[in-house]
Amino acid sequence: MRVQKENLKELMKNKVVAAGLAEEHAEVLADVLLHADLRGVHSHGAMRVEYYAERIAKGGINLNPDVKFEKTGPSTAVLDADNGVGHYFAKQGMDEAINIAKENGIAVVGVRNISHSGALSYFVQQAANEKMVGISMCQSDPMVVPFGGAEPYYGTNPIAFAAPSSSGKNIIFDMATTVQAWGKVLHARSKNEEIPDNWAVDENGEPTTDPFKVKSLVPIAGPKGYGLMMMVDILAGILLGLPFGKHVSSMYEDLTESRKLGQLHIVINPEFFGNGEAFLESITKKMSDLHEIKPAKGFDKVLYPGEPNDIQQEAYEKEGIEVVDDIYEYLESDVVHNNNYNHKDPFAK
Ligand code: NAI
Repeated sequence: MRVQKENLKELMKNKVVAAGLAEEHAEVLADVLLHADLRGVHSHGAMRVEYYAERIAKGGINLNPDVKFEKTGPSTAVLDADNGVGHYFAKQGMDEAINIAKENGIAVVGVRNISHSGALSYFVQQAANEKMVGISMCQSDPMVVPFGGAEPYYGTNPIAFAAPSSSGKNIIFDMATTVQAWGKVLHARSKNEEIPDNWAVDENGEPTTDPFKVKSLVPIAGPKGYGLMMMVDILAGILLGLPFGKHVSSMYEDLTESRKLGQLHIVINPEFFGNGEAFLESITKKMSDLHEIKPAKGFDKVLYPGEPNDIQQEAYEKEGIEVVDDIYEYLESDVVHNNNYNHKDPFAK
């Protein structure tokens, strides 16, 4: 069904407030989820609300965190969120990074001890909206076979990058380092659809098209994706003194425990590398160059990264956002959560 964005945001916010989250934190959580749904990234939108509500209600997110922000050098800082809600503190960490990069040209800000923060495009877009380049990466729970392995070790460890242009549009590249994000498998389950055979493997390490049989995801491009997810784990985990690799906490196993996840933001201010205006104009030129490339068979046009999401957003702004009926029903109901997510098997739900 179609839902207007204001309505969807309000419903999502109300649900996590009902679970116990502070209004201020819930407002940002709902904004990050709305951003994802609006951009067609449904794997990280309203679909996640019930999981968050259950985790909040069961104590796995610190509702009164003792947050510490430490500027550790001219361009570096660490925000320790004491296991507060990921969306809010990842946003706050990016705000800090933007302020540092305005002054000093570059910022590297580690956000330590947070819960799941959602779609990373939200955070890099914050930097691009300030006419700076944003990079963000974070850990997620072990559900990916390393190249050559038959059991999970890494998370889907996403990386996002945004660059602003003079047109007001941003290039936003945001991906899990797996062939598909776990949320896409969940989305396929919620719609009872098959998945392509190159997304995941079953309990025998064999490719599967049944989203309910998935036991591990696979890295993009074999050893190359495997290398990228390792890079994320080192920069967003080990660098911040957090658990890493298979020691990262599970999303579902114990909803009463904090996740202790890490996220790293990097912001680069083009003003410090020559002419900021020329940078913006060159990005605009790059976008139009790409549009002029002769399309391959089966394609209408070459799009810049993030453009399919921009197109989706434009349509959803006009027509309302497509939300799965069951999810809307839950959001509208008085139920805070249905006790669906507390289980040992990360692939059960
Ligand atoms: P995706 O596969 O949907 O898109 C990846 C990138 O490719 C996007 O930047 C998209 O704009 C671009 N793209 C897609 N089609 C294109 C086309 N035709 N032309 C040009 N560019 C195109 O993304 P994925 O890997 O499914 O990730 C989805 C979301 O999941 C992301 O927002 C990511 O941050 C989030 N995620 C979050 C995690 C967490 O723990 N917080 C873990 C894993 C993923």
